[in-house]
Amino acid sequence: MKRIFLLISSVALLSTCHPPQKSPGLTLQSNPFQYTIQKRIVCINGSVVSAHPLASKVGLEILKEGGNAIDAAIATQLALAVVYPAAGNIGGGGFMIARLSNGQLLALDCRETAPGKAGRDMYLDDKGNVTSKSINGHLASGVPGTVAGLFASLKYGRLPIEKLIQPAIDLAEKGFVLTESEARSLTFLQNDLQKYNSVPPVFVREKWKAGDTLIQTDLANTLKRIRDHGLKGFYEGKTAKLIVEEMRRGGGIITLDDLKNYTAKFRDAHVFDYKGYKIVGMPMPSSGGILIHQMMKMIEDKNIASMGFETPASVQLMTEVERRAFADRAKYMGDADFYKVPEKTLVSDEYLRERMKDYKEGVAGRSDEVQPGEFPQKESTQTTHLDVIDKDGNAVAITTTLNNSYGCKTVVGGAGFFLNDEMDDFSAKPGVPNLYGAVGGDANAIAPGKRMLSSMSPTIVLKDNKPFVVAGTPGGTTIPTSVFQILVDILEFNMSTEDAVDKPKFHHQWLPDVLDIEKGFDENVNSSLQKMGYKTKQLGSIGRTEVIRVLPDGRFESVADNRGEDDAEGY
Ligand code: DON
Repeated sequence: MKRIFLLISSVALLSTCHPPQKSPGLTLQSNPFQYTIQKRIVCINGSVVSAHPLASKVGLEILKEGGNAIDAAIATQLALAVVYPAAGNIGGGGFMIARLSNGQLLALDCRETAPGKAGRDMYLDDKGNVTSKSINGHLASGVPGTVAGLFASLKYGRLPIEKLIQPAIDLAEKGFVLTESEARSLTFLQNDLQKYNSVPPVFVREKWKAGDTLIQTDLANTLKRIRDHGLKGFYEGKTAKLIVEEMRRGGGIITLDDLKNYTAKFRDAHVFDYKGYKIVGMPMPSSGGILIHQMMKMIEDKNIASMGFETPASVQLMTEVERRAFADRAKYMGDADFYKVPEKTLVSDEYLRERMKDYKEGVAGRSDEVQPGEFPQKESTQTTHLDVIDKDGNAVAITTTLNNSYGCKTVVGGAGFFLNDEMDDFSAKPGVPNLYGAVGGDANAIAPGKRMLSSMSPTIVLKDNKPFVVAGTPGGTTIPTSVFQILVDILEFNMSTEDAVDKPKFHHQWLPDVLDIEKGFDENVNSSLQKMGYKTKQLGSIGRTEVIRVLPDGRFESVADNRGEDDAEGY
């Protein structure tokens, strides 16, 4: 049983349903209030899994007070914006996949947009080289979408925004106590805070320690404006003015009009069948849904179950489909409102069969030999994920991000929140890799109002048209491959949810031609893969996956990733 006792000052809730079943964790402090980090919970009424225990507990309380999964997801996301400033956000954007109790599927796109003054070559210097301005500082920020997304989803909830946002306001106003790793992360940020802020934000302190209380008054006031004025509390009025003033101080280009014109969009979810399951994911501008569809279909007839989990044969097969899917991502994927993405062809059986024709068992493929598929084109490092499910059959998966940890490192002066550096997800120059090594071209070139291509992949699997698995993770380009592995582990290898979440992951993204393997990956399998010709590289960790699975008896099994202080709540 993993239990980490933490000191908290504003939310004191202790709730377990069935005890979690993981190894004992570290004991920090337990006074005056304490809460536990739960890595696994099985329950019947409803459950929330997120990257922070305080946020999961906020969601749980909303469920208990009569909110549905949408309400709980909104409240959890708002709480994350306070207690998890590295990634939880109101200054970023993201995606939501939901399945409502009436069977309706939602795919909500609140991805950032390029500001009106953005241009294709805006990150190139005089010599045509890509600068770091798409990553750090004011120019890196796209127009934030998260708040618009929350309001767009509100109509599917039951509770008013006043109720859903209040826990976040309380956490910002009264503060919460930092854990060791949160303190370390904020201390590590100090140089960047100095560099990219002229108005010193509340996060500035020479050294943060575990046990320090982080009070965010400016953020609390911004949240109150959102509570009192709705969308206008963020996209117009004082908050918008503060954002634009911040832009002026640091050479950013977001204008009052950019903010006022931002809209979240409901899109048709990307849905496909896999051996009797329905897999529901995000369409463009996230590459996640199509990549996962391509990868699952390329393994479907290969009897991967007989190869076993993380054997040389299964890892090789999965690596090769990852390589092929990512080659297509680089050439064909981008905001479909701006670029004709050949979505149907990319997932057609015929095309995917053709893609796998040169697959050779036991021999590493080569990215210089695997190019994006050819066909006539005429057819019509911080993010956070949360899952919620309720007893009425509503299920929600949300992935949101500032992109890099703490986004562009600029906090809006007087408004207290970090801005994203999502502009880096565009292709600043054809073929030049971004922060996550992803390359792209025309499909994902910068244009005013366009959404940058994402890898975020909130995913719901339906069995007999009812929620079966709710999943997602942060991790940049490793997101679709991690979700792919979760699906294969559960649907093909019959693995326990905990193993699917916690066992080492691997990742290939076509370019660079390297197979990333996570620390803990079996050394024998690694050397077999190297003998086949794979160049492998060990990474410290890949993703932080949250999964809710509905058990055969209808109970919810929720698992929070062991790689962070992620937490599963339920009742
Ligand atoms: O949208 C994307 O694909 C990236 N901005 C996600 C970044 C991310 O996951 C960072 N987290 N580890």
